[in-house]
Amino acid sequence: MKHINHQPLLWLAGLFTVIMVTAPTSHTSSAADAKDAISPSDVQQGEAISPIPFDKLNFKDRPRALVALGSYLVNGVGDCVGCHTFPRFLRPRGTAPTPANSTGNLRGLGSDPTAGNPFLDPPEQSLTGQMKANINADTHGIVTHRASGVPIYPYNHFLAGGRCFGFFISRNLTPDDSGKPRGLTEAEFIQVMRQGKDISCDTSRLTPPLYGGVVDPVCSTPEGAGAGTSFNPEVLQTMPWPTYHSMTDTELKAIYAYLSSLPQATACNTVETGCAGWFGNAKGAGEVGTNRYRYANTDDCPNNYNPVGPARTGDDHLPYGVAPPQ
Ligand code: HEC
Repeated sequence: MKHINHQPLLWLAGLFTVIMVTAPTSHTSSAADAKDAISPSDVQQGEAISPIPFDKLNFKDRPRALVALGSYLVNGVGDCVGCHTFPRFLRPRGTAPTPANSTGNLRGLGSDPTAGNPFLDPPEQSLTGQMKANINADTHGIVTHRASGVPIYPYNHFLAGGRCFGFFISRNLTPDDSGKPRGLTEAEFIQVMRQGKDISCDTSRLTPPLYGGVVDPVCSTPEGAGAGTSFNPEVLQTMPWPTYHSMTDTELKAIYAYLSSLPQATACNTVETGCAGWFGNAKGAGEVGTNRYRYANTDDCPNNYNPVGPARTGDDHLPYGVAPPQ
């Protein structure tokens, strides 16, 4: 009797195994990994909020659900964009072309140029819908490729870095010419996020990240006068890695997958144009105490600094205390 009683159980166990092995899964986790299953609502939200439209991402060898979770964490939770996309918002509706503003013809283009800057401009954001203001990820539908095959969208600065924190400048996180975000392998990226290692700028590194064949100057030049002398240059100082340290493996891999799927982008503000405000003065071009960035003022890189005309707005909080044009 005992033996017979066990038979249905064994049969059930066998059926269970077959189901677990053969069931189609919409996510990357195996059955043994069930705790890491990606929530469908995170996937849905990640697809909806990516400033680079999801169908423009490069999914080579990357599961779509993992990329979507990465988008959710980068754009909706981790605030990577708050520091690594600069300026963050387009001007409302762009600007009319002028001789001084050669990209004025971009007027009316962009992911949603009418939404403007949520810190300065209407409309009020909805409690339940997607955010109406757009991040400055203007793709214009134009896609070209580096010789290495890495896609580029001209005028796009999404996650290309350039925001200053004192003398530290946020880095370009988009794929370099090798197709890896900031040239980092997944294992190196996890070291950045868990240990704060400044891997891409390690001077003994044989393969520094190349963007369009050029080494990112943020690595060849100290980020600003004083950087690296009063701080440990091997440890990231502004990047909130002690918080990200606690993310799960799946989450970190998802962020890496999303960054890997992005088009390569270039920064509006570089070491050459310098850092504004505080005591930041990279390359001596910053204006201490003014909070004004000096990069060229164009529609795809809106800048409040305009020595000849009225102040223009379009980027987020900067400059502090300067009223938008009436
Ligand atoms: C508070 C601003 C801030 C936030 C938020 C932030 N970062 Fe950073 N991050 C920086 C700055 C600034 C640097 C470079 C200089 C430093 O921190 O010393 C940096 C550096 C990096 C690097 C470069 C490591 C290397 O080897 O070059 C990576 C990768 C990175 N961040 C990824 C991220 C990701 C992914 C997120 C979101 C989950 C994020 N960061 C959020 C400011 C930030």
